[in-house]
Amino acid sequence: MWGGRFAAGPASIMREINASIPFDKRLWKQDIAGSKAHVAMLAKQGIVSQQDADAISAGLDTIAAEYEAHGVPVDLDLEDIHMVTESRLAELIGPAAGRLHTARSRNDQVATDFRLWVRDAIDEVEAGLLGLQRALVARAEDNADAVMPGFTHLQSAQPVTLGHHLMAYYEMVRRDRSRFADARARADECPLGAAALAGTGFPTDRHMTAAALGFAKPTDNSLDSVSDRDFALDYLMAATQASLHLSRLAEEFIIWASQPFGFVKLPDAYSTGSSIMPQKRNPDAAELVRGHAGRIMGCMTALCVTMKGLPLAYSKDMQDDKPPVFEAHDLLGLSIAAMTGMIETVTFRTDRMRGLAESGFATATDLADWLVREGGIPFREAHHITGRAVAAAEAAAVPLDQLPLETLKDIDARIDDRIYAVLTVDASVASRQSHGGTAPAQVRARIADAKKELGS
Ligand code: ARG
Repeated sequence: MWGGRFAAGPASIMREINASIPFDKRLWKQDIAGSKAHVAMLAKQGIVSQQDADAISAGLDTIAAEYEAHGVPVDLDLEDIHMVTESRLAELIGPAAGRLHTARSRNDQVATDFRLWVRDAIDEVEAGLLGLQRALVARAEDNADAVMPGFTHLQSAQPVTLGHHLMAYYEMVRRDRSRFADARARADECPLGAAALAGTGFPTDRHMTAAALGFAKPTDNSLDSVSDRDFALDYLMAATQASLHLSRLAEEFIIWASQPFGFVKLPDAYSTGSSIMPQKRNPDAAELVRGHAGRIMGCMTALCVTMKGLPLAYSKDMQDDKPPVFEAHDLLGLSIAAMTGMIETVTFRTDRMRGLAESGFATATDLADWLVREGGIPFREAHHITGRAVAAAEAAAVPLDQLPLETLKDIDARIDDRIYAVLTVDASVASRQSHGGTAPAQVRARIADAKKELGS
């Protein structure tokens, strides 16, 4: 395809390092769509005859059907998806195939194909994240009142509800979706027609091809058009952040499934056994979601490093843009699906959660707050008094709400029996009515809004 000035063919190692067809065959649908839009424009502008354009377009349809049925043939000599398709077109329709590449270059062609692919990838991720949010909201609603220990430093801190905890992940996923939506909006410009780097002397209509491919507009600088991979980086950065959230959720499941916690029983469908220890039920799916986040982050780093030193415009380094995006997309899709499945089917042991919430002196802050509110005591002093109450409860091996009133009065005479109304975990969570707080009424209000956001 480009051998006019060469006397010898490439070394076999050159063939191998040069070829991107083993991975860029994934762009075949986008490549054919781009070529069809391009040739329709060439015909309308009188750059190629309508007859040739029709033959090219019909040939491309035939090739699409072949790829659909048998896959894309991997021929390293033909380098990439663009040349594999063009050479097949030549076999099918003869010399007219050679007119397709008028007023374009593989540089704008690949930039266009890849943008189209990333746009579709974002739509897939978007659908997956929506499903994850729906699962989170459904389980949160069932558990809006279920008390569990809330943690800071992974130490029992204050009681919260399981619904509240799950809705925290809903918020993370909401931000993830908005990052993907941003990425999609910024990717919505069509590089096709920028040609190799400088634009073209042919009377093309770039608005026409942009519109035909569903882009908002053509890109505005030909050099930037062929060398910009921000859209791929935007995707990878959004994917990294989403995977990071999935990883945190996975980590919770791993901790919760451990015997000392026992907060969840993982579904059989998302666990594995041990070949040597018959009692084991391992949280492999969650562990792999946690592991995949590292790989996705690695993909993002790989493309950042590839791009950071490149002068304008296209350099072949940029061919390496695709494997990390493909890899990250596959890993992210699996991670979202696995976490959604786990959320939908996990058994929450809410009795166990409640038991732990009651045993960890988690209402100590409520005692201190009561002293401030009812006794007019400065918070620092209330904190100290409460600390002594916790020590007494610990010594007696009882929860705070089972300390006798005399013991509490010995610690501070201003305490009276009204204190017992705030020391239960239910009273504690019910009192946290601040906007976004863990009170079941607040959690339910957020769930109602979330359902509206999700259109369900
Ligand atoms: N396979 C190439 C890539 O993915 C297509 C562009 C090749 N352009 C070039 N000037 N050799 O980047």
